[in-house]
Amino acid sequence: MSRIAYVNGRYLPRGDAMVGIEDRGFQFADGVYEVCEVRGGKLVDERRHMARLQRSLDLLRMDRPMPASSLAIVMRETIRRNRVTNGVVYVQVTRGEMRRDFPFPPAGTPPTVVVTARSNDPAKIDAQAEAGIAVITVPDERWRHVDIKSVALLPNVLAKQQAREQGAREAWLVDAQGRVTEGASSTAWIVTRDGVLVTRPLGGDILPGITRSVVMDLIAEQGLRFEERAFTVEEAYAAREAFVTSASQSVMPVVEIDGRPIGNRAPGMTATALRRDYHGTAELT
Ligand code: PDD
Repeated sequence: MSRIAYVNGRYLPRGDAMVGIEDRGFQFADGVYEVCEVRGGKLVDERRHMARLQRSLDLLRMDRPMPASSLAIVMRETIRRNRVTNGVVYVQVTRGEMRRDFPFPPAGTPPTVVVTARSNDPAKIDAQAEAGIAVITVPDERWRHVDIKSVALLPNVLAKQQAREQGAREAWLVDAQGRVTEGASSTAWIVTRDGVLVTRPLGGDILPGITRSVVMDLIAEQGLRFEERAFTVEEAYAAREAFVTSASQSVMPVVEIDGRPIGNRAPGMTATALRRDYHGTAELT
């Protein structure tokens, strides 16, 4: 089945789906995006993802490409046309197409909007979660506004590639003080030896993860002990458990950091339970 993409008002076979070479997303990475999980044909945490998209647009002073209700329809139609039951839907918005020049294009320049959807194999992701993943740590070389979900992801790309080359699935980015900020495409968590869940507080140095916020709701519901604070790489090495969260994999146990085993090199109880319960707390629409 050929895949269909939504581009600026039209649904096109992927081979015909294009944006211009002067698009500011291509020229300057002047754009934002969202990734939302699709489960059983429904969107997971759509409301929070759309609120974050609006926040990213506002912070970069970009126009909203269409009313939220229209975007909701386009996302669903893209999912339907690609027959995605389980997978992800991507929404990308750039500041549009205009002769290359650094300042913003004239007011009224239409933003570029691309929506794509693709299936994944839940059994494969579950198998990965049952085994747990390895992560490596690398210096965080990103700019100071990574709370904006922009398409400028070069440091994340390089970190992820390094992870793959070292046999790991994810790279944890580390600030100048030796503390983990987040994963290249996920939020980083540990569970300390005395059973306290820890993740970094929101700020300019991490993306406000949607899965992170739902896991925090779950932690509150279950009355688990939780501290929102930065943790060092050393603390992570000594942790009882570690895991990452993101829309595409919900809660994914980490069993190795920089080649050192975490726990017994097996997924921890806390991460496994949070993974099991995630979609009971997430909003499916
Ligand atoms: N990545 N941190 C970064 C740098 C991310 O790119 C992501 C998500 C997250 C987790 O956010 P959320 O829980 O809202 O997915 C944290 C998506 C999945 C991606 O770019 O593919």
